[in-house]
Amino acid sequence: MIFKDFYKNEVQLSFENHPFSKNPKHVWVICRYKGQWLLTKHKERGLEFPGGKVELGETAEEAAIREVHEETGGIVEQIHYIGQYYVNGRKDYVIKNVYFAIINRLIEEESYYETDGPVLLSEIPGNVNYNQAYSFIMKDQVLDYSMEYIEKNSF
Ligand code: GTP
Repeated sequence: MIFKDFYKNEVQLSFENHPFSKNPKHVWVICRYKGQWLLTKHKERGLEFPGGKVELGETAEEAAIREVHEETGGIVEQIHYIGQYYVNGRKDYVIKNVYFAIINRLIEEESYYETDGPVLLSEIPGNVNYNQAYSFIMKDQVLDYSMEYIEKNSF
């Protein structure tokens, strides 16, 4: 699937097994906690599912688990790779793995790194694309297609 993101950059999304890179440097994690969606409030970007960069010596899945904890205090119980996307940015490109994670515990932390910590939502609103409270990461079809994929596959 190919579409444009919030900044008009071209995005390619696939639910195949690591189609763009075996070792992507970024991860994004759609989190479910006790029947709600678990997001984080990034200090600059706003509300988004947690994620970030893979550090040296870490697998992408390890990075996903760490980022969820750092940005929400969430402890991952189950994590499933669901797909990968490629953003053709102005300067550089970004390849991100998308995961679906079940969180079983939320630990209150002193700091949540670049974020203000966890935000629980029973539903992701339909107007995210026009809603200033939400991060640009939530404003392209990666979100819609991934939510659809999660609904179809009962993890
Ligand atoms: P630092 O090295 O931490 O400063 O990061 P950066 O600002 O260079 O950002 P990063 O390398 O994470 O991403 C570079 C560009 O890719 C961003 O400015 C965005 O335009 C784009 N990008 C990154 N992540 C996403 C994403 O999840 N979705 C979309 N659509 N674009 C993204």
